[in-house]
Amino acid sequence: MTIATLETNKSLYKWYSAKARPLPWRELWRIHKDPWHIWVSEIMLQQTVIKAVIPVYDKFFSLFPSVHSLASATSEDVRLAVRGLGYYRRFDLLHKGAIEISKNRKGQWPKSFQEWLTIPGVGSYTASALSSITLNEHQGVVDGNVERVLCRIHDIRTAPNLPALKQQFKQTMDQLVSHGNPGSINQAIMEIGQTICTPTQPSCDVCPLNKHCLSKKNKSQSISPGPKVKTVFQEIDLAIVIPRLANGRFLLVKRSEKARFLKSTVGFPTFIKVGNEWQGDGFQAPPWLVQRIHASSIRQQKRSKENTGKTFKHSITKYKILAQSVLSTISVDEARQLDGTGFFLDANDVEAKLVSNLDRKAMKSIRLL
Ligand code: ADE
Repeated sequence: MTIATLETNKSLYKWYSAKARPLPWRELWRIHKDPWHIWVSEIMLQQTVIKAVIPVYDKFFSLFPSVHSLASATSEDVRLAVRGLGYYRRFDLLHKGAIEISKNRKGQWPKSFQEWLTIPGVGSYTASALSSITLNEHQGVVDGNVERVLCRIHDIRTAPNLPALKQQFKQTMDQLVSHGNPGSINQAIMEIGQTICTPTQPSCDVCPLNKHCLSKKNKSQSISPGPKVKTVFQEIDLAIVIPRLANGRFLLVKRSEKARFLKSTVGFPTFIKVGNEWQGDGFQAPPWLVQRIHASSIRQQKRSKENTGKTFKHSITKYKILAQSVLSTISVDEARQLDGTGFFLDANDVEAKLVSNLDRKAMKSIRLL
């Protein structure tokens, strides 16, 4: 069974034209035909659900209406514009890519899949999406939703994300989009996966592919596909130190480029537990501060009522983090030892500067937000 036919292409195009959600990037593309709007959407949609992306996407264009405006921004402005979305490296790369297009290429957009691949942060998945939507290139897109749809069509009952299937699915999608309207066809299959062919209780009655679907025919929707091959998460202990001066102001630092977590973001000094030792993440920690983290951990283990530390969970890429926040009163001299380039803020101004949810959770956990 193949769905990669001219007939399926046409019926998907008809369905998409009538039923696709008016997502902001689709509307902007329809009106302006500016690859900038599609590029930003594809970067934001990596690992992030549409509902979380939309508010940040709208705000982003009020700050950076063109690729040139992002190219002229500081890294900190970029981080603040996308805060809360996670996986911040993608936005450092988007910033680099904007500089590449605005300055080095003098505003010339890539003219093919291959050219898109040369832009920082654009891998083959994103280049397929971008070149199919903005250049009508015959490149199929395979994301997690597309994998599920194609598994069901073929009644495949293994994990949907097996590497061997990926290749096969890419070929099917390439062939399907080769019959025309590649950008719409790719987005049609993604949309079917997001809204109709959902993991549980798919709405097969309204699916434009239902006549072609083996899983519907065999009533195997609940077992096709099988469970995903799971990412193995590494567990890690972090301590987030919230340094407070006697005058009530807080010290924020810019994390090092060498930090393992949240490189180059503005936040609180962060420590990783290695064996029984706490080590500064990307910086040399003064011993008195390490001592305070140890003391706070011990107090926490004894379930002390003192409000000096709280634990909470957080995930970053393949890490499951157990974090503890440690509120620590420090002197101006100690602040200097901690980070000569850090800056002090009133409690009310801290939130606006924090990029990562890890720092925001830390601040909340000590009930200061
Ligand atoms: N996920 C990634 N790109 C998308 C798009 N263009 N539409 C809907 N979901 C997406």
